[in-house]
Amino acid sequence: MRLVSVNRLQAGMKLGKKIYNDEGLVLLADGVELTDALIRRLANIGIGYIYIEDSITEDVVIAGILQDETRNQALKVIRNEFQQMSGASGITKGFYHLDKKFSKVMESILDDLANQEDPMIMLMDMHTADNYLYAHSLNVCLYTLVLGIAYGYSREELQVIGLGALLHDIGKTQIPLKIIQKPGMLSDEEFRHMQAHTEIGYRILKEEPNVPLLAAHCALQHHERIDGSGYPRGLTGPQIHEYAKWLGVADSYDAMTSNRVYKKAMLPHQAVEALYVGSGTLYEQKQLELFRDRVAIYPLGLSVKLSTGESGVVVKIHPTTPHRPVVRVLTGPEGEPVVPFERDLASVLSVVIVDVNDEDGAVAQST
Ligand SMILES: [Fe+2]
Repeated sequence: MRLVSVNRLQAGMKLGKKIYNDEGLVLLADGVELTDALIRRLANIGIGYIYIEDSITEDVVIAGILQDETRNQALKVIRNEFQQMSGASGITKGFYHLDKKFSKVMESILDDLANQEDPMIMLMDMHTADNYLYAHSLNVCLYTLVLGIAYGYSREELQVIGLGALLHDIGKTQIPLKIIQKPGMLSDEEFRHMQAHTEIGYRILKEEPNVPLLAAHCALQHHERIDGSGYPRGLTGPQIHEYAKWLGVADSYDAMTSNRVYKKAMLPHQAVEALYVGSGTLYEQKQLELFRDRVAIYPLGLSVKLSTGESGVVVKIHPTTPHRPVVRVLTGPEGEPVVPFERDLASVLSVVIVDVNDEDGAVAQST
């Protein structure tokens, strides 16, 4: 399989992975041959990159971090609950209670992650325009848990930080949709309204008997930044709970790599570079370092150019050195087709990835 920007899809290409809608139903099955109408539809629902079948990379299998069933069940619980909360009244006064299914969903997610040796953060660009909040909540939860596992948290600690991450934006259910989905810049007043989702989320979660208070603090503090520039309180480094700081990194990364009405998705290596701009000011340097080690910055199927002048596709990622993957070389330094062969960048240290094909076909500088 090969990763292709929706802008570069051509009729006749075959879809490599299923695409689900926000109800967990299959929108497009794998193997479907794309038509111009389907390509337009994919662009319209806000999907940035998809996997297509490709004879030269047909042995490359891209497995999700979660089993499809766990992912769909999680999205269903989040969607049902968040939708109900949008219309409910008195929810910050403890009149409304979250479904106990959230704890069950967390158990299934933790079980799936426990079955993997070194779980990694992989590109999971399956967001559609209307399910953004649900898919974002789940992605941030997974990214935070991958970090938490790498950091060495116990299962009990992961349960708390995972629940905090899954519900971090629950306060947004109480913000008018016209503000949440506004494509342009928010006015000062709208921005203040939007920022309130942190405190609203805290008020909702602290009343929940099934949610630990620490998870409520994750909702309250996930937009705080260590230099005091965040909100709602402008807390600084030591005042922000460690869990909320992990969550802040995961939240920012997912926002950067998601396609939104007002901005195009960044590729993982671009997002990691953007996060590093805030190293030591917005985010803790040590947390960013661990994040960088756990994210597949060059996802499987990505087209890359090497310092040798050769081009190819990422076909394998080493869990301990994700920035030095195995690349299947398809063209030589002059762009001439070659008999495909593999270069393992983990063992040939003199060769590096210098460029990545971005969505317009132009070449983006790599980190
Ligand atoms: Fe948020």
